[in-house]
Amino acid sequence: MGEDKELLRQTERFFKEKVESFGATFQGVGWNSTEAQRIRYDQLTKLFSQEGERAFSVCDYGCGYGYYLQYLRERGYRCSYTGMDLSESMIACANETYGGREDAVFVQGTKLEQTYDYIVESGIFNVRQSVEADVWTDYMMEIIETFHMHSKKGFAFNCLTGYSDAEHMREDLYYADPLFWFDYAKRHFSQNVALLHDYGLYDFTIIVRK
Ligand SMILES: C[S@@+](CC[C@H](N)C(=O)[O-])C[C@H]1O[C@@H](n2cnc3c(N)ncnc32)[C@H](O)[C@@H]1O
Repeated sequence: MGEDKELLRQTERFFKEKVESFGATFQGVGWNSTEAQRIRYDQLTKLFSQEGERAFSVCDYGCGYGYYLQYLRERGYRCSYTGMDLSESMIACANETYGGREDAVFVQGTKLEQTYDYIVESGIFNVRQSVEADVWTDYMMEIIETFHMHSKKGFAFNCLTGYSDAEHMREDLYYADPLFWFDYAKRHFSQNVALLHDYGLYDFTIIVRK
């Protein structure tokens, strides 16, 4: 637990610096481009695309400055939206950018307190900095378990892929084995699991439907 607290402090520091330097932009959340940020959203949103016009709730865990809310509204989703982020600076930026919108709220924290129809995350598992890879794997498992506990209909998450080109891989990033996480999700959470690894980025998405 002590280790986890330090892990969260490091992570919080990393993203605070990003948003305080670059604001409500892709760089402010450590991404390389808005286009790639949206391609990731395209994958995660497959989790609930069948909902169409129906009312449902989504938690965007690690929401950054809340750009996924804009994406969802552009796509016509009227779902209720909760953005949660460990960084106070991110939540302040999200509130400045998208605060006061209908059926949307931003919450600072890491602990899910409510249950949602769906939970998604984009990018929280990528930057491990100096944390050992096996400690990071346990941390991921704990968080994904909470996604399972707090989602009624399903959840989706993405990670950098171990199938990245060796010359571009960095020591401070965590590259996950997509086959391991597919198997893990199948065995622990649901028979209905999709592994998406065909969208041209160095990451993959796991979708778990209950
Ligand atoms: C790479 S950014 C992506 C932000 C957003 N999902 C997007 O695509 O624009 C990751 C975000 O997750 C937050 N984060 C990282 N670990 C977290 C955790 N354990 N709980 C909640 N938020 C976390 C960071 O503060 C950061 O804002």
